[in-house]
Amino acid sequence: CWFMRQAGRYLPEYRELRARHRMLDLIRTPELAFEVTMQPLRRFELDAAIIFADILNPLMSLGIELDFIEGEGPKIFNPIACESDIKALKRPQVEDDLSYTFDAIKLCVSELQGKNVPLLGFSGAPFTLSAYMIEGGKLGDLLKTKLFMFSQESAWHLLQERLIELIVPYTLEQLNSGAAVIQIFDSWAGFLAAAEYEKFVLPHLKNLIGQFKRATSSPLVYFSTGTAGMLDLIKQLPVDGFSIDWRTSISEARRILGPEKIIQGNLDPLILAGPESYLPAQVERIVMEGKKAGKFIFNLGHGIIPSTPPQNVAIAL
Ligand code: CP3
Repeated sequence: CWFMRQAGRYLPEYRELRARHRMLDLIRTPELAFEVTMQPLRRFELDAAIIFADILNPLMSLGIELDFIEGEGPKIFNPIACESDIKALKRPQVEDDLSYTFDAIKLCVSELQGKNVPLLGFSGAPFTLSAYMIEGGKLGDLLKTKLFMFSQESAWHLLQERLIELIVPYTLEQLNSGAAVIQIFDSWAGFLAAAEYEKFVLPHLKNLIGQFKRATSSPLVYFSTGTAGMLDLIKQLPVDGFSIDWRTSISEARRILGPEKIIQGNLDPLILAGPESYLPAQVERIVMEGKKAGKFIFNLGHGIIPSTPPQNVAIAL
């Protein structure tokens, strides 16, 4: 059992550190990223840690200018509007450009090894990263992204290829630095209809996963939300595990995804947020379903919300 706390800020010790540093400084200073990664592990008996970074900061190595704005969320100052914007993207020098995360991973792994706690590395998926690059920040109905997809099809595919050229070396270097597994976040995939997911997203994911799998035997998990209606498509991805949200039950996911794959999920973060009286039975229900399904990792269906009392995490564990 482990938790993603993205958008979290539910720990006072995180908020305290965050009050003194910009988000990007936390991410780009290995000692600080190490500290934030370790914070929940000092409090709770978790079975895994996830490296502190964001899915968006690696885009800076493509020449994307971004920041995390107080009370607003991520903002991209030079969003993608057409093919020439994509052609103007930089070729990423992953080892140099993103060395801060690899160094943070090394610091975490040397501390976690003795405790026998594996560290997860991660990346955004091409579709979800594209959506941020095209919308320019906070996502809504993905209007610009969909218009782009439907009207500039070849540019869309080019953008996916450019992102894969970043994601593959980025995730492999996280493994080289000591991460035990990689999770690919496709948080916004559920905003597409199955037909568009199949046409604009799935082939690129297959390409990405193929390249990853030819280079390493380390496990890969595909995370998506709102994708209950297209699990039969997602099932085609040759990953080791799938992270699903609360819109699909574990037993239904097992039925569709088949007996081989690891299933991770799927507590609603709003149930974790409280009240305390409702939480234990829901955790128990998911754990029982997971035991029945087998090959199961208890997790949230999405990130912890900021108002979650830390005490509730202890209860869920
Ligand atoms: O669990 C962890 O802390 C691991 C590190 C992590 C962060 N973001 C740190 C973060 C991970 C795995 C992410 C993933 C991420 N980032 C995703 C995919 C998962 C998901 O939630 O769907 C996405 C879509 C992002 C983009 C992003 N980053 C958004 C939309 C926001 C703003 C959220 C909000 O409500 O304000 C962020 C900021 C962010 N990333 C925070 C953290 C801890 C909060 C920033 C702060 O302290 O101000």
